[in-house]
Amino acid sequence: MCGIIGYVGEQQAADVIVDGLRRLEYRGYDSAGVAVVNGGIHLRRAVGKLRNLAKSLATEPIEGSLGIGHTRWATHGRPTEPNAHPHVVGRVAVVHNGIIENHLALKAELQAAGHVFASETDTEIFSHLIDRALSQGCTLEEAVRAATAEVEGAYAIAVLDVEQRDRVVVAKQQSPLILGVGQGETFCASDIPAILSHTRDVVFLEDGDMAVLTREGFEISRFETGESIERPVTRVQWSAVAAEKGGYKHFMLKEIHEQSRAITDTIRGRVSLEQGDVFIEELGLSADDLRSMRRIIIIACGTSWHAGLVGKHYIEQATRIPVEVDLASEFRYRDPIVDERTLILAISQSGETADTLAALKEAQRRGARAAAVVNVIGSSIARTASNVLYTHAGPEIGVASTKAFTTQMTALYLIAVRFGRLLGTLDADRARVLLRALVEVPGEVSRAIELNAGIREVAHRFQHVTSALYLGRGLLHPIALEGALKLKEISYIHAEGYAAGEMKHGPIALIDEHTPTVIAAPRGPSFDKTCSNLQEIAARHGPVIVVGDEGDEQLESLADALLPVPKTTPWTAPLVTVIPMQLLAYHLADLKGTDIDQPRNLAKSVTVE
Ligand code: AGP
Repeated sequence: MCGIIGYVGEQQAADVIVDGLRRLEYRGYDSAGVAVVNGGIHLRRAVGKLRNLAKSLATEPIEGSLGIGHTRWATHGRPTEPNAHPHVVGRVAVVHNGIIENHLALKAELQAAGHVFASETDTEIFSHLIDRALSQGCTLEEAVRAATAEVEGAYAIAVLDVEQRDRVVVAKQQSPLILGVGQGETFCASDIPAILSHTRDVVFLEDGDMAVLTREGFEISRFETGESIERPVTRVQWSAVAAEKGGYKHFMLKEIHEQSRAITDTIRGRVSLEQGDVFIEELGLSADDLRSMRRIIIIACGTSWHAGLVGKHYIEQATRIPVEVDLASEFRYRDPIVDERTLILAISQSGETADTLAALKEAQRRGARAAAVVNVIGSSIARTASNVLYTHAGPEIGVASTKAFTTQMTALYLIAVRFGRLLGTLDADRARVLLRALVEVPGEVSRAIELNAGIREVAHRFQHVTSALYLGRGLLHPIALEGALKLKEISYIHAEGYAAGEMKHGPIALIDEHTPTVIAAPRGPSFDKTCSNLQEIAARHGPVIVVGDEGDEQLESLADALLPVPKTTPWTAPLVTVIPMQLLAYHLADLKGTDIDQPRNLAKSVTVE
């Protein structure tokens, strides 16, 4: 939920840190701070967006080439300056991403021993524990190790000691943490974009790892045992620019336009039209594995859950294996019926969503085989599942998920075809038809964006609405849910997604001339029934915005606005129909002037339950 960064090298640490934090702001932006060792510990913190901290540092720079920094999304303690990280106690400065589960007991113990707390945060406990160990003669590495032995919960921490001025010590448990390997400089960060402008050589730390970072490099050990351990250095292909806005006004708009490329990259190397098959060996499931499965349970949150709802249709139609789709936050509290004959499929863009990670671990505890569809390499969910199929969407910085969503559906499409071919429930010809449709999607997504170049005019007409309904049937019901989520999370306009067939069971009472309904109605199996819904709404003077086939004169005559998409197939319709809904939400939010990339109260990666 927060972003941390650490640096040791030859550059001015404060500059490196602020630049890195800028690329981590999507992880939270209640406050930010830096600590630099130069003689003493120089601390600077500011509430609100990172620009407040940057302004303070521009006015009064801090010199020094060893430092740590933090951008916060509050979990314990209000967003105030005293609660901002880094937390300095005695010789020590600490930044932390995560939650200390036993913070109350530890705080009481420390206070009883005379420690005085300056903040309401759980993080400050680390500072006291480490400072206390240092005063007892420990090295910084030993002191951090001692602290991890007392703390329970999720953490990625970076620690400085004013008396050991050549190193940063880090530790990782459940929260993400990577190292960046430079020439005469070493970095740590919560995520890759923070360091990409300095190095592409990255090391993914595992739970239970700690590391000592110096100008010469790094040494990794297990904090429970102290044993040294090697972790591979991965060369990351993402360019620093790829994590920038690329000329678009917002990351979200850039990422909407990146979807064609992202879907292409997710398909790349995994499809054989000739054989009518899919190659995703990394998922590690054989025909026998699948035959032994009684059912599949997809677990996810938010937009990823919507992708799972689409994936249910794909996988059930291709394999005839029952698929349930569970909200991860609900899954583990319902005493789920899970055993070794259950295949769990966790879907997560960040790979760090606490609810999804916890549900995944609970399912594994109950004996399930677990695979994951994840976008961020080396993330916790990716490393917890037995196998992972990566979407290749690249960094998704906008809090509102777009390219992650369409690449998740693409991955589920591939999985469904592969499973069907493995089980023999999908023959090569039918698979070839499905795959031919899939490889057309990148072009159809680009076309959908082109066809809606004038969508801002539609947004203008509806910019003063205070509530909206989204409808879809079958494979398009999840798209209605997703369209509604996009609108509410970035424009703050209330919106609800419904199965179109549900209208007569209640929601139609909401229809009036002030409440527009957005309907997904490309030609396909449920087109006629959806058209009836459209007419029922129009008859009650409800404005109708319909996402339908370009040139569909019937729809144009019925709707107040047609958001055109290329003609496509039932399976690929979700991937294409969502595009105008993403753009409509974006332009409505932009007209309202909301903070589209960092909407209020939200963060990109929800790493707390
Ligand atoms: C989507 O626009 C939201 N930002 C949110 O619902 C998100 O999909 C959800 O938090 C799940 O995140 P994940 O895919 O990283 O697990």
